[in-house]
Order: sequence, then structure tokens, then C-alpha cells
Amino acid sequence: MAASAPQIETGVFGNYINGEWRAASGGKTLQNRNPANRDEVIAEFAASEAADVEAALEAASEAYRTWRLSSPITRANILHRAANILESRIPDVGRELTREEGKTLKEGIGETTRAVQILRYFAGEAQQPSGEHYPSANPLTLLYTTREPLGVTAIVTPWNFPIAIPAWKIAPALAFGNSVVFKPASLTPLSALRLVEALAEAGLPPGVLNLVTGSATAIGDPLLRDPRVVAISFTGSNETGSELRKIAADRGAKLQLELGGKNPAIVLADADLEHALTHVVNGAMMSTGQKCTATSRAIVDRKIADKFTSMLSERISGLKVGDPLASDTQIGPLVDDSSARRVAGEVAAAKAAGSELVVGGAVLGGELERGAFVAPALFAGVDPSSRLGQDELFGPVLGVIPVDDIDEALAVANQVRFGLSASLFTRDLERALTFAREIEAGIVHVNSETAGAEPQVPFGGMKGSSSYSREQGKASREFFTQIKTVYLDPPPRA
Ligand code: UN1
Repeated sequence: MAASAPQIETGVFGNYINGEWRAASGGKTLQNRNPANRDEVIAEFAASEAADVEAALEAASEAYRTWRLSSPITRANILHRAANILESRIPDVGRELTREEGKTLKEGIGETTRAVQILRYFAGEAQQPSGEHYPSANPLTLLYTTREPLGVTAIVTPWNFPIAIPAWKIAPALAFGNSVVFKPASLTPLSALRLVEALAEAGLPPGVLNLVTGSATAIGDPLLRDPRVVAISFTGSNETGSELRKIAADRGAKLQLELGGKNPAIVLADADLEHALTHVVNGAMMSTGQKCTATSRAIVDRKIADKFTSMLSERISGLKVGDPLASDTQIGPLVDDSSARRVAGEVAAAKAAGSELVVGGAVLGGELERGAFVAPALFAGVDPSSRLGQDELFGPVLGVIPVDDIDEALAVANQVRFGLSASLFTRDLERALTFAREIEAGIVHVNSETAGAEPQVPFGGMKGSSSYSREQGKASREFFTQIKTVYLDPPPRA
């Protein structure tokens, strides 16, 4: 593996601008630490400034001029090669992902495998028919539409899926002929860099994809406010999303937002409770609850609420929390110490406000005291209008809300500002169909967990979870292209 290729000196990784790995213009770096052990520095990365963004934008603008006219088949071949390169490195890249993000090794490998599948999917998608042929009032007119690229796009991604989310934004941006300036989360630059490395080795022309690492404070504005950036795709917090709405509206940039969730899993009395238990716990606790699609509310039929709560309590307190590289670990650390303190603080505040904490919620010490570990937490009898019932905590915290029937369950489920994903557990077809019709969520599951996203289908939320755009699948073409209508008439016959 060419693991050391992007290093500009031992243990220091650079930006990728105009086809070159370079140090930040100011020579500064930022450290990346292992959240399971804060003493362990993984590597140093370019701490970029406005001048680095400028170089990346210049390269992306220049490269776009030819990339936009390249054949989709050429782009597909590059994405295919990148998929093969990344696939050959899954064990190493998955392990690095686990070391910098903290999810378990199984999840780190799973996510890297997903990134490979996404690259392959978009290699195929690039070769799909595009545009439409229309009848015209003039029978001789060839009247058709094409889907053209947008231009230079800014891709800004979160730390919780540090390779899959970059892949699912960058692959369609490139497949449809855009150039990219990519700013990954500063907590997880190495996974981002491995994706860029694979695409670079696959033969992407210089300047088409540029990686600029660093803090949002230093490089957010120079990137996102620049008029050369015609489209922004962002996944992250609602707070940043609101800022981006203003920035994009101000200068008419196209914007795609994937924001938070407060995703419900409704469990009816007729459900297979063992099956529901596994899916609710996995939905709530995998990746230490740090998914925008995580289950944070279990809305449970009152008839089984006590029984299901004690099943949850037993399962959640039995989860093995520890070193995410160890094969028996089920729950790794949160992404950093401040997240661990924040989540434990939210748990303590909810308890103080009167919610019934059944298990978990404390920062873990002892042999785990070097990492950002919090015991997975369960609350019972949660008031749906409380902060715990309304706000995204982005950690391993699940609240049970008892309800009388499916109608109350749906009313409670919908009574939040988010609408990303939702699950129902039942054997009843009529209730399943009612749920699928009435739930206010962009992604709906019956008898499976709220998290997960296959690359061939649209992904995105309703209400405050998104910006009415969808990612992945065919929906990605909607965002990353614009329509041109062509009237082609023959010259008059001589
Ligand atoms: C998943 O559920 O597997 O940031 C993907 C997030 C989402 C992606 C979820 N945008 O958590």
C-alpha cells in the first residue's frame, strides 16, 4: 500500500491541491488524536488558511473548464479504478478510521466497504441515460434536454462517517462533471485523505478534486463565501446549516443540507419484541449513537412499555464499552472529550429536570479514563415535549415514551422539528401502511432500525433535517447538475 505517499514529512499529511500534496501555506499543522486514548497522536494535518483555499479554488476553476467536457465514461472509469484501489486497502483504511473516529473496527471496516460500494455505484450512475427528448411544434426540430455540471462545488463533511459521506458527495459531483474543493471535518482528516488518495491514484486530472484540511473558523468563510463556489453540499449540525442557508441565499449558490434527526422507533404490542429490541438498541447505540439517523426515541405501546423498558435496560447495560479496535467491543468512545462531557452533561440535566434515568450516562473512568467513553444511557417515561424528547443529543442516549395506540404514537413521533428517519415494529399491515403514509420522515423503515443508507436510493430528511434535496441514488443527479434545453433545427434545404 502506498500509505506514505501523501505524507509531506513523516507523520505529517498535506493538502491535495492541483494534483500535488502540499503543506499549508502558513506551515501550520493540526494534530489528530485517538478518542479512545487521548495520548495517542495519529498524525498531523495541514492547518490551512485563506491562501490555501484560494489555491484550491483557482485549481478547481481551471480544471473545471476541461473536466466538464470530459466523457462520462472516462469519469466512470476513474471512479471504478478508485473503488478498486480503496477496496485493496479496506483493512488498513478501516483501522485508521476507527483510530481517528472511535467507532468499532467492524464499523470502520464496514464504512470503508460502503465507500467502495458508493464509488462503484456512481461509476455506474455516470453511464446512465441523462436528459430527455421532447416533441416540438416544429416536426423537424430535435428538441432535447441535457444535464450539465454546475461548476466548482464545495463539499463539507462531518466526522461521524468520515469516508462514506465524503464518498457519497464527491463521487456524484465528479461523475456529473463538477470540480470539487473538499473540506473534511478537522477531527477526521485521515479517512478523508485516504479517499482523495484513491481518486488521485485512479487518474483524476489535477485540480478536479482538491482537499483542504483545517478548522472551519479558518477556512469556512473563504471557501463558502467565494463566488466561484456555485454549489455547497454539507452534512452536519442544524446550527451550521442555518448559517449556510444565509450564505448561499445571499449569493444564489445551490445548497444541499443534511442536518440533525430525532428519530423515533415505534414498537407496537404485536411486534416481535426480541427483533425490535435488537434493532432499537443497534439504531440507538451503534457508532456510539453518533449518527444523524440514530434512534433516540423508543415510542412504545403502554401495554408492553414496562416489559420492553426492562428488556432495553438489560441489553444496554450489557453492551461492552471499550477499545474500538478490540474484537469484543460493541461501543467505542465518543469522538472527543468535549463530546463525552457534553453528552454526560445532557444526561445529568435531563435527570435533574425529572426524567427517569434507568441506566448509564456517566463518563467512564478506570481503565477507560484515557478516552472519551460514556456508558450508554436509557431513560424511561420520557415527556415528549422535554429537551430529551425534542433535541438531538448526538450520543448513546435512548428515551422511552409510552403511548396508547398507533395514532398517539404517530402524533408524538411527528411532534419534533426534525424528520430524517423513523421505524415501526409491528406485524400489522394496516398499521404499517398508516405509518408509512403519515410519518413525517424522509426515510421510513418497517421492522428495521432507523439508521442505514443504501447508495442506490435517495437519502435525506423532511422538515428541519434537510433542505428538500436528496443525496445518493438518482436524486444525486438533481443536485449536481442543471438542465439545458436544446432546440436543434436543420438549416433550410438548399
Ligand atoms: C447511516 O445511517 O448509515 O451523518 C448513514 C449521518 C447521516 C448518514 C447516516 N448523514 O449520520
